[in-house]
Amino acid sequence: MIKFKELATQFKTPLYIYNLDYMTTQYTELKDAFKARKSILCYAVKANSNLSVIKHFAKMGSGADCVSIGEVRRAFLAGIPAYKIIFSGVGKSDDEIREAIESDILYINVESEAELGRVEMIAKELNKVSRISVRVNPNIDPKTHPYISTGLHDNKFGVDLSSAKRMYIKANNSDNLDPVGIHFHIGSQLTELKPIYESAEIVADLVRSLQNIKIELKFFDVGGGLGIKYDNETLISTYDYAQAILSTLKGLDLTVICEPGRFLTANAGYFVSKVLYEKQNGKKKFVVIDGAMNDLLRPALYSAFHKIEAITDSKTETTLVDIVGPVCESGDFFAKDYPLPDLAHNDLIVVHSAGAYGFGMGSNYNTRGRSAEIALEGGKARLIRKRETFDDLIALEKDFLD
Ligand SMILES: Cc1ncc(COP(=O)(O)O)c(C=O)c1O
Repeated sequence: MIKFKELATQFKTPLYIYNLDYMTTQYTELKDAFKARKSILCYAVKANSNLSVIKHFAKMGSGADCVSIGEVRRAFLAGIPAYKIIFSGVGKSDDEIREAIESDILYINVESEAELGRVEMIAKELNKVSRISVRVNPNIDPKTHPYISTGLHDNKFGVDLSSAKRMYIKANNSDNLDPVGIHFHIGSQLTELKPIYESAEIVADLVRSLQNIKIELKFFDVGGGLGIKYDNETLISTYDYAQAILSTLKGLDLTVICEPGRFLTANAGYFVSKVLYEKQNGKKKFVVIDGAMNDLLRPALYSAFHKIEAITDSKTETTLVDIVGPVCESGDFFAKDYPLPDLAHNDLIVVHSAGAYGFGMGSNYNTRGRSAEIALEGGKARLIRKRETFDDLIALEKDFLD
């Protein structure tokens, strides 16, 4: 049981709390599921990029999947070795590509023919060979929210099969490119196995057809995407997930790379906020809390559902309320029509499943400092990011006042 009241008193609110022990359990379960093969879990840093969280995964042997050079630098700082770092994303700048090549990371996941050309040119300038993988877009509907669907040709990610093949041939013929892997990631919060299996099968067939023309890859990168329970979703078991992927790899000597984010961190995290006021507009009742969309954007961005827990002495009947923050946007809500009892000033609202795509998507909108972050490990709490102050927010502007 997490002592939300004590932690809120000690560290103030709004506050992110991450249970690192839960992250360990999730990591171990997924890693074990792939034990029939060589595998590397490359934690998707974007899910929760706090350095202490990345370090926690580094200590367990995890690699890192990064989508900016900033994330690559975070991974290095947190102790992830270069040979376990992957750099993905549709829009890498020349400077980012240069730094990735110079850092000798495991590979760059290339997402277009144009990008492959830039990587080759920059590697040539540096007199280096860049290891690459191609992100294949298998045109499979992952059956998830459209904003987190990435494996259809309508989505900007990856390349179709025939472009991928051309890119491998080009890379194989280049003195500055070394094609070592193949990658797909069809979406996030996946709760159906079939699209994952079908994508893996398509991509594994491409590996075989490349083998036929003497292009031998080493890494089969299945992306992330494994869904978690926000509400009452039926989930894919890690065993079924791994088996479905491994079953497509018969006869292939490949190391599996998996890039989980949400699965490892979402349900380890809680966002804790204090009740400021209750108010009634006609029939509609609002609970106004001190956290806002600048702290946790998911409800505003995708109407995402998060379980809410009220920590209160109130024993009244529940009524349906909207839980909202102080930001000047009607989209600033955590839940709509949620059953809660009457609440008092300073009661706590705990938003569950907030450990992935929470703090990282935060902003300073309305000149609000971002929350503090704390880690729980072995029953002990420690600060892992200070609360932002007004001075932090104006630090990059204040010298320009005339
Ligand atoms: C390439 C890639 N890998 C891994 C992930 C992590 O996804 P998830 O957090 O759903 O596991 C993402 C998420 O967008 C991604 O784009």
